[in-house]
Amino acid sequence: MSNKTEMEDKIRELFTSLSPQDKNFLGGLHHTENIIRELRNHFSYIQGDLPSRQRVNMGIPYLKDSKVIGYCTFTVMQDARPNNYDQKFIGLKEPVNYLHFKKLVVHPDFRNQGIATELIQYRLRVANRLGKDAVCDVEKENESIIKLLTENGFKNSFHWKTRKGTEMIRLTTHSK
Ligand SMILES: CC(C)(COP(=O)(O)OP(=O)(O)OC[C@H]1O[C@@H](n2cnc3c(N)ncnc32)[C@H](O)[C@@H]1OP(=O)(O)O)[C@@H](O)C(=O)NCCC(=O)NCCS
Repeated sequence: MSNKTEMEDKIRELFTSLSPQDKNFLGGLHHTENIIRELRNHFSYIQGDLPSRQRVNMGIPYLKDSKVIGYCTFTVMQDARPNNYDQKFIGLKEPVNYLHFKKLVVHPDFRNQGIATELIQYRLRVANRLGKDAVCDVEKENESIIKLLTENGFKNSFHWKTRKGTEMIRLTTHSK
């Protein structure tokens, strides 16, 4: 992997290629320092050194000809106390231990080639290796991601409405 700041610039370029609706589905762009932290945490993980915090955010760039054409993030929950949002909308009370899929994006010129599927399957392998279920919260109207997650073993677990009235669905690999 090249230098992390250079990688962060390439990830930022990928985000600039997106339509307003794509950006909306992604819940906006994240800050530079967060991207750098995500990359660093993933690098530590692949070196066998998973940080021991309650929430470890990781980011995985997908490269082609040294350009970043895909990016995904996830959070490893390690006995993580539910935050206010999780308590209010998801009804969580006890500490959680799942792998929370967060952002997933593929450059518009490289879609329908299986790149998102690879990034989903990579994260599922991490979940499996860590002995965790995977969870993903998506907007109900984002049909393409719901279809992809379902094809990769996720099931609808429940729906809720955000404060702004957006309908959300939680999908999970949990078998119960
Ligand atoms: C959703 C998103 C990530 C999908 O990325 P993608 O790389 O095009 O996804 P894939 O190529 O893996 O799958 C898309 C389709 O191509 C099909 N496909 C997979 N491999 C393929 C291949 N080699 N050749 C042709 N088609 C293929 C998949 O089966 C899927 O078909 P479906 O639409 O019938 O389910 C992308 O559209 C995106 O970035 N959207 C904006 C951001 C967003 O909404 N993110 C999700 C919320 S965080």
